[in-house]
Amino acid sequence: MKIFENVSLKDYNTFNIDVKADFFVSVSTIEELKYCLSTKPEQNKIIIGGGSNILFTKPFKGLVIHLNLKGINIISKNNNQAIVNAAAGENWHNFVSWTLSEDLGGLENLSYIPGNVGTAPIQNIGAYGVELKDHFHKLTALNVETLVLETFHAVDCKFGYRDSIFKNVFKGKYIICEVSFKLTAENHQIRTNYGSIGDELEKMEVNAPTIQEVSRAVIQIRKSKLPDPKKIGNSGSFFKNPIISCSKYKLLLKNFPELPSYPYATNKVKIPAAWLIEKAGFKGKTFENYGVHKKQALVLVNYGNAKGADILRLSKLIQLTIFKIFEVKLETEVNIL
Ligand code: EPU
Repeated sequence: MKIFENVSLKDYNTFNIDVKADFFVSVSTIEELKYCLSTKPEQNKIIIGGGSNILFTKPFKGLVIHLNLKGINIISKNNNQAIVNAAAGENWHNFVSWTLSEDLGGLENLSYIPGNVGTAPIQNIGAYGVELKDHFHKLTALNVETLVLETFHAVDCKFGYRDSIFKNVFKGKYIICEVSFKLTAENHQIRTNYGSIGDELEKMEVNAPTIQEVSRAVIQIRKSKLPDPKKIGNSGSFFKNPIISCSKYKLLLKNFPELPSYPYATNKVKIPAAWLIEKAGFKGKTFENYGVHKKQALVLVNYGNAKGADILRLSKLIQLTIFKIFEVKLETEVNIL
């Protein structure tokens, strides 16, 4: 393990923002992680995984710890179910692909999401009708203060829409080191109801899809709508879809009768932020080397050497405009640093 000085973080965030960190280290074992956390207690430290949910707006004064813990293991398997553990530093999509190559079902709708296994539970990643919590078994996280590993079961994680206890009460207090999933070993549940999956499978001329085919369809859809961070920097959805009361929704429908909604809870609905942003005229808007993606209004993009501060300013303009037009608050999904 080597600690480097004055390191560009460009390759460690999917927005491809070129900011420098005073110090940078990549850790491959829990012991290395503990060492980095315990030395220089006064030093400012952050942990990064795949860097897919971060917008750096200024240089980082302190130590960036890149969590590079690796390993995937089948813990148990019977005819119905398998328990699989994956270390935090495994790339999420590579892990999903591995489960599919083992014919284990559950994560196929979550294919091709950028980021690492360890950050996936923090915001309870979700796509195409499935959320991580649906196949979560438990996780192991290092308590930053005591340096003791603790186990969290689903109920402890308090998963919600793009939310968990690690985003609020325990923010910065734990580092997720390993996540355990409950997957199907046979009789897989095929979930193709969400939006365009059915259409995509039809295009593929698949009638009775396998989990692998569902994954292929999801990859196709994501590729067609979401920019590849290797080519165009981005962090997926920049904002969360707002959850509003049914009465507020009814009021909005008077002026915007086509505004879509998805049931959320009693008396609440979720509305697509992308719809609001598109309606406000931002879809595809480009400002020098950054802007709003042409095919998905929820995605902000860095076309070249944009600064994080520019993207942050654009996100604030969008929030302000959406509030002016719809009186709806847009919350960011991405962490701003
Ligand atoms: N829409 C527009 N304009 C657009 C895009 C979408 O009006 O440019 C409207 C349409 O009405 C569409 C609706 O928004 O039917 C929903 O769009 P989409 O299915 O593309 O999903 P989303 O709500 O924008 C969410 C997740 C994505 C996830 C997709 C698919 C959030 C914040 N985002 O986006 O997750 O891939 O559903 O399940 O919940 C991410 O979190 O980074 C992410 C990409």
